[in-house]
Amino acid sequence: MNFIKSIFVILCISALYTCSSDSTDDLTPTPDPDPDPMGTVTYEADIKPIFTNNCIQCHGDPPTQGAPKPYVTYNQVKADVNIIISRINSTTNPMPPSPNSPLSQAQKTLIQQWRDGGLLEN
Ligand code: HEC
Repeated sequence: MNFIKSIFVILCISALYTCSSDSTDDLTPTPDPDPDPMGTVTYEADIKPIFTNNCIQCHGDPPTQGAPKPYVTYNQVKADVNIIISRINSTTNPMPPSPNSPLSQAQKTLIQQWRDGGLLEN
């Protein structure tokens, strides 16, 4: 009896899981623009090069020029992803700071997609 109950519970959970995935898809009617032909955004392939070219001259390890922290490893970037996204999109307090040029829209989109896709490392 308990065994049958467990099977039933597992079936319910998988049904719920399937439903919630479907409704997430429904909430995204327009497909995201996808600059990565493989469709998967990863830290090593897509995100690290953006930081290497635009951020680590200040956010190195140790950080320089008044930057508060390093952004050189996967865990450091992952831990701050929300504040990073808000600062790269900020018009009043942008990162990188002027006179450095801001990230391109494609680079901002990639970082956003990386977060939305679950912050994959590889
Ligand atoms: C020219 C040096 C410089 C560059 C390049 C630079 N930063 Fe910064 N960053 C700073 C300084 C200085 C601060 C601290 C002052 C502030 O918050 O504005 C800072 C703060 C931040 C903060 C806030 C951290 C916190 O915990 O409050 C984030 C997030 C950030 N930077 C992200 C980035 C990202 C992402 C890039 C690259 C796209 C970048 N920065 C490039 C100098 C830099």
